[in-house]
Formats: sequence, C-alpha cells, structure tokens
Amino acid sequence: MRHQNLALLASLGGFSLAQAGVDTPLRQTDGCPKPFGSDPSQWTQYRSLEDLGRCDKPMVFDLDVQNLVSNTDTHIIIRACSPGRGKGSSSMVVNAGSNSIADNCGAKTKPVKATVQTWGSTARISSSVANNDISSAASQIDAYLPSQASCGSSITFAKSGNAVVGLYAGADVHRASASALVQMFQAQAKDGNFMLQFCETNSAADVTVGIFGGAFSDLGKVQDAVKTWTNGGCIQTQGSSSDSFDIDLFVSSTGSSKRTESNARRRKHALNKRASNGDTPVANDSRASLVPCDTGVEGLIDKCRREDRTYSTESPRAGSYMPWYLLNPANIAATGKQYITIVNLTPHRFKLDHTHSYQMDEFDFGDIPQGHARQNTAHYTERAGANPVDDNGEAYFNIEGTDKRFVIRATTHIPDHYWRRTVVDLSGMGMGQREYLDPGKESPVTLVITGSNDYGFITSIRHGPGNWMRGIYDVIKDRKIQHVIMPGTHDSGMSRISGKIASIGIPSNTQTQGINIYDQLRAGARWFDLRIATVHKVPNEGDYGFWVLHVNDEKAEVVIGNSGESLDDVVSEINRFTAENPGEVIFFRVRYLIGVREVPSLGPMYWGKDIVNQFFGKLKGVNNRCPNLDATPFNQQKASYFMDRNGGKGCVMLLLDGDLTNDVPHDSVGDGIYETKRMDFSDTWSNLPDTEPLANSQVANWKSAGRSGQFINDRFLISQWLVSADAVTTTLVSIQNIAILPTNPALYWMGVNNMSPESWPNVLMVDYIGVVVNGQTGWDQLSAEMYTLGIGMNLYMVSENCDISTQRSPLLPKPKALQNVKVNMLSEPWNGIIYANGTVQDTPPLTLHPGRVRLLKSGTRFLNGTVLAKDMENPDYRSTEI
Ligand SMILES: *[C@@H]1O[C@H](CO)[C@@H](O)[C@H](O)[C@H]1NC(C)=O
Ligand SMILES: *[C@@H]1O[C@H](CO)[C@@H](O)[C@H](O)[C@H]1NC(C)=O
Ligand SMILES: *[C@@H]1O[C@H](CO)[C@@H](O)[C@H](O)[C@H]1NC(C)=O
Repeated sequence: MRHQNLALLASLGGFSLAQAGVDTPLRQTDGCPKPFGSDPSQWTQYRSLEDLGRCDKPMVFDLDVQNLVSNTDTHIIIRACSPGRGKGSSSMVVNAGSNSIADNCGAKTKPVKATVQTWGSTARISSSVANNDISSAASQIDAYLPSQASCGSSITFAKSGNAVVGLYAGADVHRASASALVQMFQAQAKDGNFMLQFCETNSAADVTVGIFGGAFSDLGKVQDAVKTWTNGGCIQTQGSSSDSFDIDLFVSSTGSSKRTESNARRRKHALNKRASNGDTPVANDSRASLVPCDTGVEGLIDKCRREDRTYSTESPRAGSYMPWYLLNPANIAATGKQYITIVNLTPHRFKLDHTHSYQMDEFDFGDIPQGHARQNTAHYTERAGANPVDDNGEAYFNIEGTDKRFVIRATTHIPDHYWRRTVVDLSGMGMGQREYLDPGKESPVTLVITGSNDYGFITSIRHGPGNWMRGIYDVIKDRKIQHVIMPGTHDSGMSRISGKIASIGIPSNTQTQGINIYDQLRAGARWFDLRIATVHKVPNEGDYGFWVLHVNDEKAEVVIGNSGESLDDVVSEINRFTAENPGEVIFFRVRYLIGVREVPSLGPMYWGKDIVNQFFGKLKGVNNRCPNLDATPFNQQKASYFMDRNGGKGCVMLLLDGDLTNDVPHDSVGDGIYETKRMDFSDTWSNLPDTEPLANSQVANWKSAGRSGQFINDRFLISQWLVSADAVTTTLVSIQNIAILPTNPALYWMGVNNMSPESWPNVLMVDYIGVVVNGQTGWDQLSAEMYTLGIGMNLYMVSENCDISTQRSPLLPKPKALQNVKVNMLSEPWNGIIYANGTVQDTPPLTLHPGRVRLLKSGTRFLNGTVLAKDMENPDYRSTEI
C-alpha cells in the first residue's frame, strides 16, 4: 500500500517527499484524521502528501488553492477530518418545482436556468481511479457542505480510497443548490464523468459551481481546476467530449445597487477577494471555511459543541437563609430585610442596568450569570420615624444580547397583613407582570426564567401547559430517565386531612401539600411519594377503605398521624390530568400497602390476597398504564420509551414498594403495576432539623453522581429538599411555613448555584409544591417556580452537557438556512397583570406598572451611589414598554 502511494506521489511533477513533517498527536494509528473535530483547531494536520495518502478512509480536507501542491516550493499544510458518516444531506435537496426557498445568507433567492456541463475523465486525468471512489469522495463533500459557514464561497476537498474531489461553490449559490449539483456529480461519476461545472463569467454575482475529481496522484490537477474557478475563470470545454443539461439553480437575487455595479468591477472585486497572494501566509479566503467536521446537516446544526457552552463559571454572592426563629409566631423581631431571588436558566446574562431606591437601608441587586441565581436584597428601612408608605425601589435588568428587559420593584401596600410587596415586571419581555406578597420576614420572593430569545421565554410568574414534558419532547426524548429532571412531591396525597384515624395528626404537623394530585401534576410534579394504607373499622375489620396516610411509622403498635386523600380521588385526579395533558411520564412510588385500625392499636394488619386484589383493581382504574415493559431498569430507558406509549399519551408508572408479605402478589406486570426495584434510584433523606444543614447535605449528595465523562456513580437521584423538624416544632410553626418560608426558597439560590450542566438531582422533591404564601392554594395564587426550574434544568442546563445531550442546545440561535418557525407551546406571549389578591387583568394599558412611583423623592439613591438632593420625575414612569 505504502509503496503504491509513493509511486503515485512520484508522478506529481517534481513533488518533494522531503517535506514530510508529522503531526502525530492528532492522528490516529492508521494515519487517518481524527473523526472528531468540533473544534476546528482539532482538525488533523498533514504536512506532506505522503502522510495524507497513507489514509484510505474517507476524509474532508482543506488546501490552499493558490499554492499548487505540484510546485516543489509549496509548503504544504493540509487540515483534514473524517466525517462520522458519508451520508448525503437529503434535507438540503431542493424541490425543483418550488420557487420559494430559504434566503441565501440574508439575500433573497431566485431560481435561474443553468446549463451544467460534465466531462469524461480520460482527457483530463492521468491515472486510473475507480468511479465509485470518486462518487464516494463527492458524497463526503455533500455531507460536509451544510456544516460550512452559510455565507461566502465554499472550497472543499475530499478523499476516498484513491480518489480526490475538489469543489468550488460561489457565494451567491444557495448551499442547497450546490448540494444538488454535488449529488448530480456523484451520479455522473459512476458513469465516468469526473468533472462538472456551471460557470458564469458574465454574471455580476458569484454563481459558479465546479467539481473535479481524479486519482490522488492527480491532486495537483484537481487543485488547479478549483483554483481556476476560485479566481473567476472557467475550465475550457472545446475539444473535449462533454454533455450539458439544464437545471434550476437557486441563487441570490441581486439588489438594484448591485446591478448598477459593472460586471467587470464586481468581477475584479471578487477576484481580489478570493485570490491569495503568492507565497505569503495562507489567506483565509482561499481555504475551505474551518467549521466542525462531523456529520453534515445534523453535524453542525444539531450538534452539541463544548465551545457553544454559555453556562457561566462565575457565581454570584452567597445568599442568606431565613433564620428559623423568625418562624416562631411568638417572635416579633423587627426586620426589614426582604429578598428577591432571580434564577437565570437562559443562555443570556441578566445585566443590572440601573436602580433607584428610597428608604432602603440596603438595595443590593446585581447581574445574574447564565445558569446561576442571585438572592438580591431590599432592606426596608428600620430607621425610626420613616413612613413605610414611601418605601420603594426599582431594579432594571437587560437580557444581554437581546432587546428584552425586566424590572423588579420593591414596594408597600398599607394597610395589609402582607404590606411588603414585590412586583415582577416582565412586560419588557412581553411576559406580563405579577405582584407578589412578600411571604414572610427574610423569606425570598423567587423569579425563575428559562428559554431564550430564539426559543421564547418561560417564566415562573404563572404556570404554562400541564404537559411540559411533551412541550420539550424533542429535547428530552433521547435522554435516559436518569438524565431527566422532574419536580416531585413528598407525602403527595396529604393535601388535606381527612381524619380517618383517631390520632393527633392535624394540618400543621401532618399535612405536607397544599394542592391535590391533579394540581401537583399541573404544577409540574412527575415523581410522587404516595403512601397508601387500608383503614379498618373497629371491631368490624372487614370494613375498610384505601387512603393516603402520613404516619410516624406504619408498622408501629399505635400509629401517629392521619389520612389524606382517598385512593379513589387520587386515581380520578390522575386520569383527569392525563386526559387534559397527554404525553407525559409520571412515576408513582407507592408505599405502606398495609392496614391500620381507625382507632390505632394492636399494630399493623398485613394485606391478604383479597385486599391486594382489590387494591390492584383500583390501580387498574388508572389510565395510560404501561404494561409489559422491557427488563432494562426504567431509569436507563430513554424518555421517549415511555412518552411514545399509549399512542403518544405517555405512561403512568405504578411502582410498588410497600410492606406486602411474601405470600401475596407484589406486582402485576401485565397491568403495568411493577415493583419499585424495576427502577434503580437513590433516595436520600437527610433527616436534619434545619434548612442550612439540609441544603448542604443534599447538595453534597448531588455532587456524588457523575453526569459526564466516565459517568461514575451516575444514577437516578431523588433529592428530598425537606426538613425533618420534631413534632413540637412542626405543631407550633407548621410544616407549611417550614416549607414555604425558609426551605423551598433556598432551593432556588443555594440549590441552583450548586447545580451545573454536570451536577443535578433527578427529582426535586418538596413539601407544598407551588404554594408561596401561607394558605393561598387557589390555582391562580400559586407560583410556578418549581415548574419553571424543572423545565429549565432540562432545557438549558442539561442541554449544555454534550456528554448527555448530543444535539445542539435548543436555546441557541439556529443557522439562518435552517431556521423554521416552530411554535413553542411552553412560551405563550401574554402581557397581563396578576395582582396579589388574585385578580388577573389580561390586557392592561401599556402604561400600567403597579408599584412604579411617579416622583423620585429627595433622598432617592441610584446604583452609582448618587443621592437625589431634590425631587424629580421618575424618568421611567412614562415608559410604556416596561
Ligand atoms: C484568518 O482567520 C482567523 C480566524 O478567524 C483570523 O484570526 C485571522 O486574522 C485571519 N487571517 C487573515 C489573513 O485574514
Ligand atoms: C385586586 O387588586 C387590584 C389592584 O389593587 C384591584 O384593582 C382589584 O379591585 C382587587 N380585586 C379584588 C377582588 O379585591
Ligand atoms: C448616577 O445615576 C443617575 C441615574 O441613572 C444619573 O442621573 C447620574 O448622573 C449619575 N451620577 C453620576 C455621578 O454618574
């Protein structure tokens, strides 16, 4: 092989082998270029043709066309990569009957009749070469073509076996047309026609396309042909046998200004631009554009590339936990500190533009880098004598790289029990406004934003469609379930106390959720900790019902706790949700599966076969169960494995994990009722009595799961973001307050800042999902932080982990040629206002911005430290947009 190549090289006029220089580090052992190359600097370099010739595998390479390899003085540097597969770019093929096609690089395109010429090989090349190798080399170019920068001319070479092919495609030829010609050439090459050109020297536009193939030893001739086209010439046709035929080509339709330019002048301009200058360093223009060498259309357009990553390594300042003593109603400590956490799960930085504040001891806002959160402070004055009616401040943010803006306002509403208010004004993004009650002393109001300018934004001021997984189906469909992130609820059915057992369980110490399973599903939850027991009458124990139960220990002699929703209600709530919101995968981990007496005593009553059968009968009432699934652990299956089932309606997964004895059935696989062990997961309960240690312990656990590289200890990880306070404390301050004041809000600053594309739990399990103000559990009073965080972690964070997500982040701009307007169901434009009292105004006047003051009073402080000496009109007051 090697000798043969040497012989062929010798036939390249006077070419010197002494130039061989080797760049071994990037080369594979077979001498071929590395298949990867998302980073152009990682293309394999060859400094001699001999080295290049050693590789028989298909590759694409660039070559300075002005410095012919046949010239002995040429210092050769060839950059090459081997495409993943030589697949034709079928999606680029132009429908010849269509006269509307994407713009060419911003310019409108029009179809023109083109006479294309082809020639047989013999007259042009010296060595024999297999027709199929020429065709195969051309297919490499075709696969690679769409990956190139969509503007400017294209010069590309490819090698396959002993054949090389070179392409020149003018800047004004639509890539899809160039691709169509390359495909035509592939067919022609099989008949022995190794050259094809559409050459237009009289056009003002650069519309030439030329393709020339030959044996590797003819590389000099191939290069010379491409040089001719590059420099504005045509290959002369007289005297050769040739065919010609007419096709439609899509080219830029030149604007009127261009038409006035004389052909000659434009031609000259093009020449100067394209030609490189003798033996000076390689000019960029005379090379193929250096872009990812991978797999054609899917290659560049859809590939996740590390260099596209937007996740910032910069972390904002640490926030503060709400001290638990403030939960105690007996504690009347005066504190004016309020926090506003802003979570940025977008590829854009949120840049603080300006602020003003009045009677704030501290008004500390700052930039929020991509993938991070910042807990900002509005410290209402504690100065004696200040009239709190006047306390206010505004912080204006720009979403960098876009024309979108948003504003946070700290304001008051007196008299009211909740007299401090935070207004989240997203009208500058077309996403509405919401007035929040500050939920408690030193407890944050939270705003989560995900999406992007190109994708559309999704924000937490209100819930979007219930079937969020379906909404990002394209993003998560190929990810394993253990690489999907979902909200979860703890003691899920305990949204009310139904009092079926005589025990001390009352709402403050036993109720763990504010909304039922149907609303939890709408609020985004996909993992449920459902504890089902039978409650038996005394003394007639054969009279029993199935209830959600929350007790200290279901196997205790005397259980302590209470019952929540009935199993019948849970089943109908699930069915209502899935009927309205098809396409999800929902996991119910069902525990307990044991009986207790309505007057708890005498220990547990294990279920017999009759109760188990009755229980299975009720579970069979759940729609969209997924029977007979593969033996592969569920966490290892792709999301689409579940979401595609039941005709695309998805799966409700029932995973039993209770106290069933060995002599009763533990599953009914044919009914979609499984044992929990079909799924591998780790469920870490910190069992700690305060928010900060809980947060530290959970975060440490997330970091133990490898989410990239070797994926060491990668697993489906349930994070229980819950505090376990003792019964006295919970009775006093309530599980609800512990959840919504210090604990859940910490997830959004402390938790988020400890997540990254490579670090996260799968289930974000909380108490009181969706609830942000005590007792406000009406659907319109809820807030969508958890919903938006769950979506944003999948959409933004994991999409930037190229070891998991091979496709390009959906949030990044798409190359022009492939932009198609796709309606994103999760991001609906809406510019209404939600008031703290629950009133919703869908189309408020553009000038209405609750909490914005007209007058900036003397004493108002700006971001730059300037303090106003006298009153002035708020310059933002009259702005309509924001
Ligand atoms: C070639 O392109 C590189 C990368 O874009 C640039 O840094 C360099 O200045 C260019 N060289 C010339 C001669 O234009
Ligand atoms: C709710 O608040 C808004 C704005 O303060 C007010 O216009 C509206 O009348 C209130 N609605 C109710 C029902 O109190
Ligand atoms: C500080 O900011 C205010 C408001 O943006 C502006 O009017 C003022 O000129 C600034 N002062 C200085 C010293 O830059």
